[in-house]
Amino acid sequence: MEYTYEQYQASAAYLRQQIGTFCPDVAMVLGSGLGYMGDEVEQAIAVSYADIPHFKPSTAPGHKGRLVFGLLEGQRVAVMQGRMHHYEGYSYEEVSYALRVLRLLGAQTLIVTNAAGCVNTDWQAGDLMLITDQIKFFLESPLRGPNLPQFGVRFPDASHLYTPALQELARETAAEQGIEIRQGVYMYFPGPQYETPAEIRAARLLGADAVGMSTAPEVITAAHCGMNVLGFTLLSNMAAGILDQPLSEEEVLAAAAACREKFSGLIRACLRKL
Ligand code: HPA
Repeated sequence: MEYTYEQYQASAAYLRQQIGTFCPDVAMVLGSGLGYMGDEVEQAIAVSYADIPHFKPSTAPGHKGRLVFGLLEGQRVAVMQGRMHHYEGYSYEEVSYALRVLRLLGAQTLIVTNAAGCVNTDWQAGDLMLITDQIKFFLESPLRGPNLPQFGVRFPDASHLYTPALQELARETAAEQGIEIRQGVYMYFPGPQYETPAEIRAARLLGADAVGMSTAPEVITAAHCGMNVLGFTLLSNMAAGILDQPLSEEEVLAAAAACREKFSGLIRACLRKL
């Protein structure tokens, strides 16, 4: 299914009815176990995805499926509590649909978070990583199909999907907060099965530090329509084959819960400096 510009506009118009004159500056997409920040938004107006024309419900565990508009650290935010994933059956265009709608509502910045497997064996589960770049090989782009020039050009440059100035801001902020932060490349795998040990060895050879099932499509779409992007990964587990133990969703959610304070502290501090 290819969305028309009018459909994006219809979603934005519905949301404008709900939020009145509020205009979000920062879109936030929160990953597995990290959606709680949406509950901390002040003067919140929450809109369920199910009520927004052309939106799809989010079915992944730990994802609430609503947009929360309001203030976080004084910034006007739109928090996506729950994202869509390709493994749920959505096309990449559907996965990143909301980003274009939030762009139409005025958001210029995207903060994106995820939980991912740690490929870099110098690091540990529980570490936080600033995403410096991404690898999304194979399968199609969220921009496949007729280009909508209202959003961006047909062949967008992808040299700096993760905005260098925002990376610098995150490094400075982490240092000030005394939070150790890794920096590296996020490699997208479609899932829902976790990777095999051979896939992880291949990913490492290709330059990946982390592997996960989200983020890359949304970031392509957000950058295409001119948004600045800041991305963080919670390395929730060592990737497949590194430790002699199976991967499980419980481990991912437990790691997210254990890092809650550190992670939200860093994101809040970044918001204050935006
Ligand atoms: N692989 C893919 N996605 C993930 C992982 C992983 O090891 N951990 C959390 N999300």
